[in-house]
Amino acid sequence: MAATSKRGAFGSRLGFILAAAGSAIGLGNIWRFPYTAGQHGGAAFILVYLICVVVICLPVLFAELAIGRASQMSPVGAFARLAPRSPWPLVGALGVITGFAILAFYAVVAGWTLGYLGRALVGRFAGAMTHDQSVAAFDAISGAPVVSIALTALFLTLTALVVRSGVQGGIEMASKILMPVFFVLLVGLAVRSMTLPGASEGLRFLFHVDLSKITLSVVVGALGQAFFSLSLGMGAMITYGSYLSHDERLPGAAFSVAAADTAIALLAGLIIFPALFAAGGDPSGGPGLVFVVLPSIFHQLPLGGVFAAAFYALLAIAALTSTISLLEVVVSYFVDEKGWSRERTTWLVTFACFLLAVPSALWGSFLDWQSVIFGNYALTIGALLICLFVGWKWGVGSALAEIARGGAPLPLGRVWGLIVRFLAPLAIIVILAGVVGLIPGVEF
Ligand code: TRP
Repeated sequence: MAATSKRGAFGSRLGFILAAAGSAIGLGNIWRFPYTAGQHGGAAFILVYLICVVVICLPVLFAELAIGRASQMSPVGAFARLAPRSPWPLVGALGVITGFAILAFYAVVAGWTLGYLGRALVGRFAGAMTHDQSVAAFDAISGAPVVSIALTALFLTLTALVVRSGVQGGIEMASKILMPVFFVLLVGLAVRSMTLPGASEGLRFLFHVDLSKITLSVVVGALGQAFFSLSLGMGAMITYGSYLSHDERLPGAAFSVAAADTAIALLAGLIIFPALFAAGGDPSGGPGLVFVVLPSIFHQLPLGGVFAAAFYALLAIAALTSTISLLEVVVSYFVDEKGWSRERTTWLVTFACFLLAVPSALWGSFLDWQSVIFGNYALTIGALLICLFVGWKWGVGSALAEIARGGAPLPLGRVWGLIVRFLAPLAIIVILAGVVGLIPGVEF
């Protein structure tokens, strides 16, 4: 496949799949999914999550990829090209801001993974560890300002080093080899966790659905998490779609990405909850959940210290392929729209992002707040606007034609059109209206 322009392009369809999957699969699956599910009652949340992925997020994924590939531009320029002289590029701008803000808290958590990697490498996970020791270990990293800020800076620097060198050199390579290794390791950990004594309680928490537990806050949390996990609602997939050439088949690639992302989130649940319940922990423990639970699995494994080091290294890399996509959206805006040099822009944006990350590194509550505002609401609103754009401005027909261009039309294209025009926007509006309190009697 030839590069479509000077902007760079993916070397192959597989390269695109792996890079998009690399963007989707990250801390959202391993860190955010389990603790959000834990806070929202487990099985009920997971059921709603799966429905959101299939009914709303998958259609939005196609919408974003179509916009990107049709325009061959990053978000702001993409809207400007498909809808000249209209306010729609503002949706792209919202995405750039959202991506920047997400990167600022994501990098803090990614920094923690480096902290854990460091500890694993010096053999700190080899011996037995009680729950309290595990909590203390988490606090020693996340609660120490200097450590936390330094690790955040380190992670942002790693991200910048990849983004600086452009799409193909950096993103594609990192995704191609390491993600499959990560998957195998996750399956192994899930098996270990599920065979711990007392694990069945955790499986019940994950799969025994109590429909009465589905409240508005569960639905909002699940929908937001689904957008977050699939990297939707802020233009990351528009940007990646723009690097995909017109003669590649799109639908299968997008399905694979969504399936892989969902499988890994569920796997993370299968790792965390059986072990958590086996150890008698509390599922609603919040952002520290994964970091506190995992050490208890590692020390019950032969060669646990080795597995721990491998796991945190791979998790850091999974996080890196995600932070790359976040930074790439912001950087490509300035490169494409303002004509700035990639190198200079990358370092400038990275430094600005570091400044915004500092409060999250210092205060867990700030991190939480950013995760909700930008990781949930801004993405949900972004996805709504993207649906409205494709459904009512650019046109379902044009989008379907773009998707079909590589030789594979979208299966159930008519249904997709109805979802993008009506169902997804209505569902999102009703959910947001419930949150704002416009629908009386709905329990948040
Ligand atoms: N999806 C990634 C994860 O699950 C995070 C991420 C990367 C993201 N790019 C994004 C989230 C764009 C929202 C939008 O870890």
